[in-house]
Amino acid sequence: RLHIDIPAGLRRLPGPKPLPIIGNVLEVGSRPYLSLTAMSKRYGPVFQIQIGMRPVVVLSGSEMVRQALIKQGEDFAGRPDLYSFQFINDGKSLAFSTDQAGVWRARRKLAMSALRSFAIVEGTTPEYSCVLEEHICKEGEYLVKQLKIVMETDGSFDPFRHIVVSVANVICGMCFGRRYSHDDQELLSLVNLSDEFGQVVGSGNPADFIEHYATFNKIKACAIVCFQDNIRDITDSLIDHCEDRKLDENSNVQMSDEKIVGIVNDLFGAGFDTISTALSWSVMYLVAYPEIQERLYHELKDKVGLDRTPLLSDKPNLPLLDAFILELFRHSSFLPFTIPHCTTKDTSLDGYFIPKDTCVFINQWQVNHDPELWKDPSSFSPERFLSADGTELNKLEGEKVMAFGLGKRRCIGEVIARNEVFLFLAILIQRLRFRALPGEPLDMTPEYGLTMKHKRCQLKATVRQRNEE
Ligand code: HEM
Repeated sequence: RLHIDIPAGLRRLPGPKPLPIIGNVLEVGSRPYLSLTAMSKRYGPVFQIQIGMRPVVVLSGSEMVRQALIKQGEDFAGRPDLYSFQFINDGKSLAFSTDQAGVWRARRKLAMSALRSFAIVEGTTPEYSCVLEEHICKEGEYLVKQLKIVMETDGSFDPFRHIVVSVANVICGMCFGRRYSHDDQELLSLVNLSDEFGQVVGSGNPADFIEHYATFNKIKACAIVCFQDNIRDITDSLIDHCEDRKLDENSNVQMSDEKIVGIVNDLFGAGFDTISTALSWSVMYLVAYPEIQERLYHELKDKVGLDRTPLLSDKPNLPLLDAFILELFRHSSFLPFTIPHCTTKDTSLDGYFIPKDTCVFINQWQVNHDPELWKDPSSFSPERFLSADGTELNKLEGEKVMAFGLGKRRCIGEVIARNEVFLFLAILIQRLRFRALPGEPLDMTPEYGLTMKHKRCQLKATVRQRNEE
């Protein structure tokens, strides 16, 4: 264990004894969200492991996570200088870089105002509340058509492959008026690279802490392929439209054009991988729980009807769909950890000393499966978020789900993400019924990474007939 002096009155962090050089890598293993959850039962909500030579503090339990990220938010708002992070957007990423607080804050503000404009800009016709809604509705309809064609020609479809194109098209459409076809090679190769990307930057990857593996070349390739050229275009136009772009009035921080490019790149990367993963998991859960799929269809049929595309304004009338999405975030916890945090100064939690610059993992999976917080956490049950008669969403229960982080580093795309998942799903469920291929069991085991994916697979979709029950 690395030697540190503990200030008087504070205690040394508990945790498993590390081996020389590799630390606790063996105990952490290939499913850190499970092994670190098991360790939290033994050592409590704040404990320390060592990955390689580097100490990492692991936080679990809703109370402790809130204490650190909200009540002591400033202390835990940094990002560690992990090796893999340098390669994300060439080290210019807003989400992953170790910027000084002033620079990060200025960039976060700019990114948030860029995102807000998506929700404010009006659609081309009055039926849509904003341009985001218009793009999702159109891409959703297009996805339904595409899945029909693929079913007719191939008899089955790969959910992730098609969903990712539709989700990318929403962003591409809004940013630079371009859509990709579902067979576009450029887009498909990006999607495959981003799979590997997620696996490498997932929390607890030993390569980040021990040595430099060859895989990083692939990440670098990904950063370069990531639509750099297109991004450059829209960013330049963003820059033109944003006069005060380089000066943050509070911190007087100058921002380079490269950092602004990094922001757009981030929004793009964060936006399409996470939302596609959420939707692809949703389809898997619909298939795994056919009875819930039928109830969701009937809710849509009764509350929206079958003659028009669902809209964001239908949300208050679709509590079961809202509950299904909350349960999807909770049960899958496909972002098992937030992006790693780092302490910005010497601090303490629960009487334990945590020095400045300590890497901190927040175990969202543990919070979402904590038996102290959830009844029967391993069962998939959207009802847990509904009133007893099933007609109303229990918002307080919903706020217990941890998917977007909390506090100063909380996800800035949350509203967009929730709206997009809701609307795409409503459109898919209204029009199609999803099933497994006969004789092929559904594999719901997640593959570990920053975003955990299900294994790529083939499913069946049939078009809902208007007169069907
Ligand atoms: C950060 C979740 C979609 C932009 C994060 C974090 C999580 C998260 C867990 C890290 C929080 C932390 O470190 O404490 C999700 C989920 C999404 C989603 C589950 C979809 C279902 C989006 C979208 C965008 C976005 C659509 C943008 C359009 C960002 C950015 C950060 C971030 C820029 C970094 C914030 C910072 O470091 O200050 N997100 N996100 N996310 N997210 Fe999302």
